[in-house]
Amino acid sequence: MPLKNKVKKRFSKAASTYDKYADTHRQIVSYLISKTAVHTTKGNILDLGSGTGLLTEQIQNLNISSDILSLDLSFEMLSTQKEKNLSAKKVPLLIQGDIDNLPLIENSFDLIVSSTALQWSDINYIPELITNTLKKNGQFSLAIISSGTFKLLREVKQDITGEITNNFLPHFQSLKESFLNKKSLNITSSERHTFIATYKTIDELITAISSLGIGESNDRKLTDSELKKFKKNYQEMSSKKYGCPYLDYEVSFFFGNKI
Ligand SMILES: C[S@@+](CC[C@H](N)C(=O)[O-])C[C@H]1O[C@@H](n2cnc3c(N)ncnc32)[C@H](O)[C@@H]1O
Repeated sequence: MPLKNKVKKRFSKAASTYDKYADTHRQIVSYLISKTAVHTTKGNILDLGSGTGLLTEQIQNLNISSDILSLDLSFEMLSTQKEKNLSAKKVPLLIQGDIDNLPLIENSFDLIVSSTALQWSDINYIPELITNTLKKNGQFSLAIISSGTFKLLREVKQDITGEITNNFLPHFQSLKESFLNKKSLNITSSERHTFIATYKTIDELITAISSLGIGESNDRKLTDSELKKFKKNYQEMSSKKYGCPYLDYEVSFFFGNKI
């Protein structure tokens, strides 16, 4: 798990640029919503790691009668969300808090959602957190960035530096096992999908990574000559597959309910 302060700092810095580069995150959110009974949920909904509110916003638009609690580690991400909400008919309750140390009442939610946020927290604890926080029969829909993500980026970097690039991201299979092992949860679907983000240039791809706050936090920075080589090799390798620079996201989805 990356250092929490670093994660918080990166997302706080990215708060004003995130939405501009978040097309792939929007696609992930849309898929998550398409498989969730949003309209029919009555009561309280919790969005974990809500960021600038891409998921919260869509859920609130589809289900105006429920109360949504939108929780994030970064005050700046929540501030961006608040500005966007100013003209909304109904606004979610914004709370700055840590998923690993939730300031919430147990058995209090009818639906828990989360998109591309849980991989930054203690993943072994997630099934328990979902169990504790959901009401009986409450639903959950989760999208978690998993270990196959940025495969090409890691390969090219490793080729240049000779250093193994640290990938803290959880494996789909071990996530699936930890959800299945939780007897109080009924898993209706577990899926793994790849989402591809394409860019006109390699510089645009690098800007997107920092503008989204998603750069890996424990790696050392490349030197100028390494970076030059990295850009050239990445451009060549990615063009072979999609004709342009791309980022690959492997996303694990879990849908189910508390028994
Ligand atoms: C990639 S963004 C996703 C935001 C939003 N869910 C979306 O789909 O656009 C990840 C968010 O998770 C938040 N986050 C990371 N670790 C967290 C933690 N331990 N507790 C709460 N939020 C966290 C970050 O601050 C960031 O806003």
